[in-house]
Amino acid sequence: MSAFLEAVKKRRSYYNISRTSTLPDDKIAEIVKDAVKYTPSSFNCQSSRAVLLLGSHHDKLWSITTETLRKIVPADNFASTEQKMKAFGAGYGTVLFFEDQTVVEKLMTDFALYKDNFPVWSEQTSGMLQLVVWTALTEAGLGATLQHYNPLIDNEVKATWKIPDSWKLTAQMPFGKPEAEPGEKAFQPIEERVKIHK
Ligand SMILES: Cc1cc2nc3c(=O)[nH]c(=O)nc-3n(C[C@H](O)[C@H](O)[C@H](O)COP(=O)(O)O)c2cc1C
Repeated sequence: MSAFLEAVKKRRSYYNISRTSTLPDDKIAEIVKDAVKYTPSSFNCQSSRAVLLLGSHHDKLWSITTETLRKIVPADNFASTEQKMKAFGAGYGTVLFFEDQTVVEKLMTDFALYKDNFPVWSEQTSGMLQLVVWTALTEAGLGATLQHYNPLIDNEVKATWKIPDSWKLTAQMPFGKPEAEPGEKAFQPIEERVKIHK
């Protein structure tokens, strides 16, 4: 088994994380930069963007998310939501994933024949990028999950970190030191999902 596939197998959703890092901040930044640089995109358009939030910036994100949800989640149900936000905030940092709509819209104009595909491909490249970051963080000993509080938090995120208006938030990935292993995962029979003809 290749080291790459081993890492893919090891990646899980780690909800129980703490504020310790298994590697220095500049190494985390390197993972995010390499992932953004080397993940493929349609027509090599390089539409993906990422923002790494550490320390008080990470805290601020989960405080924004908590306060945004407080306004819309019924008060009776809010305790469990708040608990969840606290668990993400308890981590070491968060990676924010974006897709630059300026790039997507230019492709739609320049290559009208494929117009409808570009927004789809943009989401696909973002998903590829998310998997690369998720797997690389896991390989480095960190645990992460994939969250989607967009578009609820978009405006405040943009205002807080001066994000260009054309960057569309696609996902949030809180990470930290894993404090508990995820439960066993059930898999469907692989033969029903992969067909081989030879
Ligand atoms: C496209 C996509 C969207 C997801 N969205 C969320 C999400 O919003 N919140 C969450 O807690 N997990 C989310 N997940 C995590 C999945 O629930 C999780 O990966 C799946 O149950 C398998 O578990 P594992 O990650 O431990 O292997 C998402 C995963 C994918 C691939």
